[in-house]
Amino acid sequence: MSELEDSAKAHPTIFFIFGGTGDLTSRKLIPALFNLFLDGWMPEHMAIVAMGRTNFTDEKFREELLKDINQFSRRGKADQAQWDKFSKHVYFQVSDINQSSTYVEQAERIQKFTAEAGTAPNVIYYLAVAPRFFGAITENLAKHKLAIDAERTRIVIEKPFGHDLQSAKELNKQLCSIFSERQIYRIDHYLGKETVQNILAFRFANSIFEPVWNRNNIEHIQISVTEQLGMGNRGGYYDEAGAMRDMIQNHILQLLCLIAMEPPVSFKADEVRNRKVDVLNSIRKFTPEDIKKNTVRGQYSKGWIEGKEVPGYREENGVNPESNTETFAAIKFFVDNWRWHGVPFYLRTGKRMHQSSSVITIQFKDVPHLIFPSEAVESWQQNRLIISIQPEMSVRLQVQAKRPGLEMTLNPVDMLFDYNGTYTGDTPEAYETLLLDTMIGDQTLFMRGDQVEAAWELLMPILNTWAGKKSLSFPNYSADSWGPETAEALIAQDGFHWFTLPLKNTKK
Ligand code: BG6
Repeated sequence: MSELEDSAKAHPTIFFIFGGTGDLTSRKLIPALFNLFLDGWMPEHMAIVAMGRTNFTDEKFREELLKDINQFSRRGKADQAQWDKFSKHVYFQVSDINQSSTYVEQAERIQKFTAEAGTAPNVIYYLAVAPRFFGAITENLAKHKLAIDAERTRIVIEKPFGHDLQSAKELNKQLCSIFSERQIYRIDHYLGKETVQNILAFRFANSIFEPVWNRNNIEHIQISVTEQLGMGNRGGYYDEAGAMRDMIQNHILQLLCLIAMEPPVSFKADEVRNRKVDVLNSIRKFTPEDIKKNTVRGQYSKGWIEGKEVPGYREENGVNPESNTETFAAIKFFVDNWRWHGVPFYLRTGKRMHQSSSVITIQFKDVPHLIFPSEAVESWQQNRLIISIQPEMSVRLQVQAKRPGLEMTLNPVDMLFDYNGTYTGDTPEAYETLLLDTMIGDQTLFMRGDQVEAAWELLMPILNTWAGKKSLSFPNYSADSWGPETAEALIAQDGFHWFTLPLKNTKK
């Protein structure tokens, strides 16, 4: 969040959540809004209206939410008095998105709320529904003149933002025919994570990193986002998406942008987003030869995770038993600009991997000349800056140091900034940051339309090639492994290996 506008912080807000009975609402959105309320961020005048077809009364809906809060809020079980204070602002509107009456009722609610608050409120439409409903909702909002206040009306869109470049363009076009860009908040929840926001702070609030942050000093960069989880109940969605669409097109490319971007002129939303889109536009386009050499896809077979047998991908619920969808992808990118020319960026992500961890490793070049005898440097390691996003939240700088003793023996040690050791208390969830930003009108941590399209454009050649050529080796990694061997080879052929951080607790 940047540029906190104090006046806007407390500005009356009415939130409409389409998809009010879905998992996202109960597990993420309501717990986040409740936590914002507990931390004093919610305006005094607020209304949260969940929309859905279930025949809930306000009371019944609040009861259901309380169960979910108790289970999913980072604070655990809710304090009853606080919940009562918060939940009286929560309503359920029994509604069908295709019916005019839904929008007439919304207009009435806004009118009533405006009269009570004594001012025109922020009106936020949160689309926590499948993309196929976006068209009907936005057209109806336009038809009922519910989107005309460009200053106060906002729409929040969840991923996936399109299925490919063409559908993303169509969606952008459709949204932009009703809303202006500054009203559109395309969520990528990774950008709301504390550790991800801290990449900007680390890079641009310290003077020591910028002079070494380039091709002269950095040898290569790795971004690894691995998960132990399988499909759960998401097989149907995932089988249409795969790792590229689910993780790389959005979360992982956003991480790459934060690492590779030039310093923005200020922390204003468009300054930051301009620099990020520059990165996407500088990434080398993939030729058929590059796709062969620099990309790897994988799919998991069954195996054992923490003592429990887990099914292979093709046996998961909702997944085609002959599916060709990738559950793992590794790619080597190059960013063709002055800063990064020749520095490889290795990205990998996968489901049912050995560990759940998201780690960015920046490996620096070796010293130009080694003055120590060979017996002193047996465990030599080039300097690394390791940004651990989750589950450990830390930044560590690996340097060589002399081991205490009478001999000169060097070994790598960590200079560590660990959130747990440095700060007390819980860190806010990504959705808390992002929902507050929608209320105060700060788009810095949201995806602009051109960013989304640039990311799709970059990946389309790979997606098309993979779709056009069935993998004959699937499944090619077993659950609880680090992915297919070819992913090891992708990085090993350049003389490197995937870095993993030993984790104290790898459970998610
Ligand atoms: C979601 C993906 O966007 O991010 C999921 O659809 C993935 O497949 C999830 O598991 C990972 O998010 P986090 O915050 O758990 O790292």
